[in-house]
Amino acid sequence: MTSLHELEASAGAFSVSRRGTRMPSSPIRKLAPLADAAKARGTKVYHLNIGQPDIETPACMLDRLGQMVSKVIEYSPSTGTPEFLRSMQRYYERRLGLTIPQNQILATTGGSEAILFAFMACADEGDEVIVVEPFYANYEAFATMAGLKVVPVTSRGRDGFHMPPRHVWEQKLTSKTRCVIICNPGNPTGTVFRREELQMVAGFCRDHNLFLISDEVYREFVYDGQKATSVLELDDVDQFAIMVDSLSKRYSACGIRLGAFVTRNSEIYNVALRMAQGRLSPPGIAQFMAVGAESLGDEYTRGVVEEYQRRRDVMYEGLTSIPGVFLRKPEGAFYCMAKLPVESAEDFAIYLLSEFEDRGETVMVAPGEGFYSSPLGRDEIRIAYVLKEPDLRRSVELLRLALERYRSR
Ligand SMILES: Cc1ncc(COP(=O)(O)O)c(C=O)c1O
Repeated sequence: MTSLHELEASAGAFSVSRRGTRMPSSPIRKLAPLADAAKARGTKVYHLNIGQPDIETPACMLDRLGQMVSKVIEYSPSTGTPEFLRSMQRYYERRLGLTIPQNQILATTGGSEAILFAFMACADEGDEVIVVEPFYANYEAFATMAGLKVVPVTSRGRDGFHMPPRHVWEQKLTSKTRCVIICNPGNPTGTVFRREELQMVAGFCRDHNLFLISDEVYREFVYDGQKATSVLELDDVDQFAIMVDSLSKRYSACGIRLGAFVTRNSEIYNVALRMAQGRLSPPGIAQFMAVGAESLGDEYTRGVVEEYQRRRDVMYEGLTSIPGVFLRKPEGAFYCMAKLPVESAEDFAIYLLSEFEDRGETVMVAPGEGFYSSPLGRDEIRIAYVLKEPDLRRSVELLRLALERYRSR
């Protein structure tokens, strides 16, 4: 006789969820096995594919670890510890000139959790989120987790990936649109949206009752003396603006897993708070460490930004001197999208790792198409300039050589 267990198994009782099968794989990590194989062959791989900053985490944060006196690693409050929330308040006061009450800030497990909370608080399964593409690839992953459909509004390299005009946004609107997510400064584009662009998208959201989620995890990284405008600085957005923040890039502390969800809309805050209570607590040790950052003066940020601006210049000058490569000068974050004189940038990225090497070295880049939801970006790559200047120069040289050889095959 067939057992119940066998019946269940034959009926596919152990099949994974449809949501699970829809989860996209990361375009940044997709080629990792090829990079591993290149390394196993003894080839040195310069990683331009991933935004892991190489700058040291400030000692004033690391030193806090030695100052912990607790005998028990406890849960922290679901909202975040009062000390951490106060330190965030002081940061917003200093950086944005804004007074944000503690009951408008939720500590989260990285900016990542804040994005997930935002999607789940603003929209229901089957609803749509408008995203400016090319976009941070994990937005697609978070949207899938929340059951949302990503609807892209395309920005173009020739326009420096600035926002398309309002009528393009209007065309994307359906009865299911619930929210918009923007990334400013932008990953993967390096674009810093101007205040007028933000006002345009805020107007669009206001007129159609959409929430506006602004991912500002690269706020500090703006070059040529410019400054990124926060969504919270705009007029008349209190009811629909949600700001996503993170300490990962600001303090070169990606592993700390600490970020924030900030909104002046108490209803949205309360929904996110209940989600935060459901997951119990953001990381407590991280919050204890983060408070140490308060002793950093403005010169810390200035030094880091100057370092990245030099790297940006090395990368931009190097890439634009390669025949057939096109990009506009990135204005912020530490990424750029570059158009290559090839048909398939993914094929070229594979070639870099599997066939090419020069004096035992090669370079890894992220194929551009993974940052679009439309069938675009096939001839683009995303570069993260998080290497030291000599390594960046060498990486650009390798790209130049590889393009020459790839095209003359
Ligand atoms: C645009 C953007 N948003 C959010 C995140 C996630 O940051 P966190 O490390 O705080 O989760 C990243 C990480 O690379 C990012 O690039």
